[in-house]
Amino acid sequence: MSNYIRAFSQDDIGIIQLDRPEVLNALNREMVDEIVAQLESFDQNNAIRVMIIKGNEKAFAAGADIEEMVHSTPLSLEMVNPFAVWDRISLIKKPIIAVVNGFALGGGFELALHCDLIVAAEDAKFGFPEVKLGVMPGAGGTQFLTKAMGPRKALEFIWLGEPMPAKIAYQFGIVNRLVASELVEEEAMRLAYQLALQPPISLRLIKEAVHAAVDLSLQDGKNLERKNFYIAFASEDQKEGMQAFTEKRPPTFRGM
Ligand code: HXC
Repeated sequence: MSNYIRAFSQDDIGIIQLDRPEVLNALNREMVDEIVAQLESFDQNNAIRVMIIKGNEKAFAAGADIEEMVHSTPLSLEMVNPFAVWDRISLIKKPIIAVVNGFALGGGFELALHCDLIVAAEDAKFGFPEVKLGVMPGAGGTQFLTKAMGPRKALEFIWLGEPMPAKIAYQFGIVNRLVASELVEEEAMRLAYQLALQPPISLRLIKEAVHAAVDLSLQDGKNLERKNFYIAFASEDQKEGMQAFTEKRPPTFRGM
């Protein structure tokens, strides 16, 4: 039973709707637990091929729940270990798409950055306002943003805590697709359905190799890629894909 999200599927797309509209989907710890547990559940569900996380028209999520954080102490944070659950998102094997309308601030921006792809509205409002609360990003914001924009731009945005126009996020490759707000969901679903037709084993092997490229040396990354390339040849979808090519017909991938 979830209190702060709604989860459902449409064909083979697993959808998580953040559902705390009265506080612009501010993320309390229970809500983050629910999101991650649902991602893991979709990841284990053979009927699901792609996942989507979305908010509502006004907000993807306006950050971590400030009411919950206001009385935190270094020791309470150490004992609660609130970021361990976030690390589990990087263990999800299937593609995750964030659909961003409205605010994606602080922890909300970090949740989108934990997803593989971001589809955003042209007027979406990204940003890290934590500095204005006397703190800083804590769920990977400094790292994700610096890897995407380089240190100078990342420092400018995180130091000033000012909104990042969606167009800038798009130009830096943080956002994959930028569309009018009324078309965001449609575009994300189109992308999800396109991915759902791809061979699922290839998708997960590609996801692992691409994310590894962010941290590994070129040679270590190439070695990992090579192993994953070999593993793909254990799949029936490899046989189907290559056979379909020789028979001049479209392939049907079954995820085996
Ligand atoms: C708790 C929040 C909230 C948040 C909004 N609300 N953001 N509550 N935590 N992060 C609540 C407001 O208190 C208000 O409740 C209701 O949502 C509607 O918000 P308004 O401020 O009335 O809306 P608006 O005037 O449109 O302004 C929108 C806003 C503003 C610009 C997004 O709400 C805002 O600045 N929010 C805080 C954004 C922020 O600082 N995020 C970073 C948090 S720190 P009431 O009861 O008054 O109706 C963080 C650290 C991450 O994320 C660490 C890792 C997880």
